[in-house]
Amino acid sequence: MSTQVSALDVIDWAAIKPFWVEAFGADDDESPPGPGRHVWRVDSGDEVVALGVDREFETWLGEHRVPTAGIAGITVPAEHRGGGYLRPLFETLLGASRERGALLSGLYPTSTGIYRSLGYAPVAHLDDVAVPTHLLEVRGDAAPVRRASPEDLPEIAAAYTAWARQHRGPLTRDGVSFPDPAKAFTDDTTGVTLAESSPGQVTGYAAWDRGKGYGADAVLTVRELVALDRPSLVGLLRALGSFASVTPTTVIRTSTPDDWTGLLRSDDSRVQSRSTYMVKVLDVAALTALSPAPGLAAELPFTWQGQGYVASVADGQVDVSETTSTTTSRELDDTAIVQNLFSASDSRTLRRLGHLTGSDTDDAAWDALTAGPRPAIANYY
Ligand SMILES: CC(C)(COP(=O)(O)OP(=O)(O)OC[C@H]1O[C@@H](n2cnc3c(N)ncnc32)[C@H](O)[C@@H]1OP(=O)(O)O)[C@@H](O)C(=O)NCCC(=O)NCCS
Repeated sequence: MSTQVSALDVIDWAAIKPFWVEAFGADDDESPPGPGRHVWRVDSGDEVVALGVDREFETWLGEHRVPTAGIAGITVPAEHRGGGYLRPLFETLLGASRERGALLSGLYPTSTGIYRSLGYAPVAHLDDVAVPTHLLEVRGDAAPVRRASPEDLPEIAAAYTAWARQHRGPLTRDGVSFPDPAKAFTDDTTGVTLAESSPGQVTGYAAWDRGKGYGADAVLTVRELVALDRPSLVGLLRALGSFASVTPTTVIRTSTPDDWTGLLRSDDSRVQSRSTYMVKVLDVAALTALSPAPGLAAELPFTWQGQGYVASVADGQVDVSETTSTTTSRELDDTAIVQNLFSASDSRTLRRLGHLTGSDTDDAAWDALTAGPRPAIANYY
């Protein structure tokens, strides 16, 4: 039976939405196609056999913004699972995202095994970490804190961006997919506490939801905690810790490894729920977003997906060109190229796990090239 992959329009939406309700058990998991949101369907004969959404995002890779296809809502109706419809769906969907310039694709899988053979590899975790609230009353110099008002939103956004640019993986929170940057702080949030290391300069924030009650089961939920320096982190943790008498537990949404558990008197925190963030490299040009140390100069041949390339590193920049040379024997699989790019693994580990094979002559140079900002993620989508 012929299989056809096509973009969904808003008119199809009402008929298609029940598939998502069925897959994810909620009626608000997906939205209709619209700016920055491309919905794709696969039909076999006269039946819908797969659905998926591609969202227009950008990823911070240190100082560089990299266009990214954010995948969500992947669904195959129960009767068609195991039919092999994901591959044609991804080929068409990612082909279209590549045409608009996406070099990466990211997603949160319900199961990592679904996307491994499609070239995605884990780079970071977004965890909800439960901690006894009293442990947040940490010692040390603390920046002054105050409650944010709507006028502070631009400064809060700037603090997020400053944090995001110190990592690889966080989304830029601007552009077509973020029409309302305030949303993250107004939905399900009681308050946003700001830290100001210097007067008038927002150097950290905690967006929190007080929750209900004040008994043994009461929980304070921190939707986002960002601190650009240690005094800001101490100030924010103490403000949260001051809830100890009414909310014995605090759950902090955090990208692991986090900055804050190392400051606690004892590490009695535990991951309550974990979302793994996976990324796929769509185009080898993504490597040009690396920012090597200015003193690093090297010509690094490698093979990926059967094609030979040379990464030319000089003056703090990377260029990648194709080569037909057969002397290239350093071979990266899809996991190796992603985890190299995100500094999520090193050559030795990738070799041990079989993701990197062939010549090891350039391993030290590759590790120097990819060293730098660590992976992190803050948005769930
Ligand atoms: C997940 C889902 C889309 C997979 O559809 P499917 O038709 O079974 O997928 P395919 O048969 O094409 O399998 C694709 C790959 O995923 C793997 N896979 C499928 N379900 C899996 C699971 N639950 N856990 C781990 N791997 C899984 C298959 O083994 C296959 O891997 P391979 O290519 O290495 O052999 C489908 O089961 C579904 O709609 N589930 C409910 C909604 C959901 O979880 N969506 C994913 C959101 S991220």
